[in-house]
Amino acid sequence: MTSSSPTPDAFRQAWGNFPTGVSVVTFARDDGKIHGITATAVCPVSLDPLLVLVCVAKQARSHALLASQERFVMNLLAEGQTQASRFFASSGPKENPPFEFERSAHGGLVIAGSAAYLDCRIVRRAMGGDHTILIGEVEEVQTFARSPLVYFAGRYIEVGPKIAAEPVPPLPSPKKAPVLKNS
Ligand SMILES: Cc1cc2nc3c(=O)[nH]c(=O)nc-3n(C[C@H](O)[C@H](O)[C@H](O)COP(=O)(O)O)c2cc1C
Repeated sequence: MTSSSPTPDAFRQAWGNFPTGVSVVTFARDDGKIHGITATAVCPVSLDPLLVLVCVAKQARSHALLASQERFVMNLLAEGQTQASRFFASSGPKENPPFEFERSAHGGLVIAGSAAYLDCRIVRRAMGGDHTILIGEVEEVQTFARSPLVYFAGRYIEVGPKIAAEPVPPLPSPKKAPVLKNS
C-alpha cells in the first residue's frame, strides 16, 4: 500500500467515502432574521448528560454570530429537504426561504418537515484548527417518522422508506470456527 502525504484534497476524498446525514444548525437572534448553517460535521457526544457537537468553519459568516449565541437547534433533515440544505449552505443572509419554520418550546428555529430536531444550550466551545467545535446540551428533542436525507460523495441520496421502515434481519448464528492446533 502506498502512502501519500495527507493534503486537504486527500482528506476530503476520504471523508467523501463516508455517508452522513445532513443537519441544519439554526440559531435565533433578536433581529428577526433567519440564521443557520448546513453541517454534516455533527455527532452525538454523550448520553449523560445529553450532548451533541457541531464543527463550524471560522470562515463561515455564521461563525462570528455564533460567538454571542447561547443556543442552537440541530435540525436533522429528512428526504425531500435538499432545498433546505442548499439554502443554508449558501453564504450570506438567508432571505426568503422556500419552506416553513416552526418554533421549538425553547423558541428555537425548527425547519418544518425535518426527521428530528435537538434544541441545545451551548455549554462549551473548543478550538479545532480552522473550525470551532460547539458542544450543546440537549434540552429538547423530537423525532418524526420520516426517512433521513443522506450526503455521500458530494451528492444527496434518499434511502427511501423501505430501508427506514424494515428492520434489519438478525444475522445467522456464526459457524464454529475450526480449532487450530499447535503442531
Ligand atoms: C452537505 C454540506 C455539509 C456541510 N457541512 C459543514 C460543516 O459541518 N461545518 C461547516 O462549517 N460548514 C459546512 N458546510 C458549509 C456551510 O454550510 C457553508 O459554508 C455555508 O455557506 C455557511 O453559511 P454562512 O457563511 O452564511 O455562515 C457544509 C455544506 C454542505 C453543502
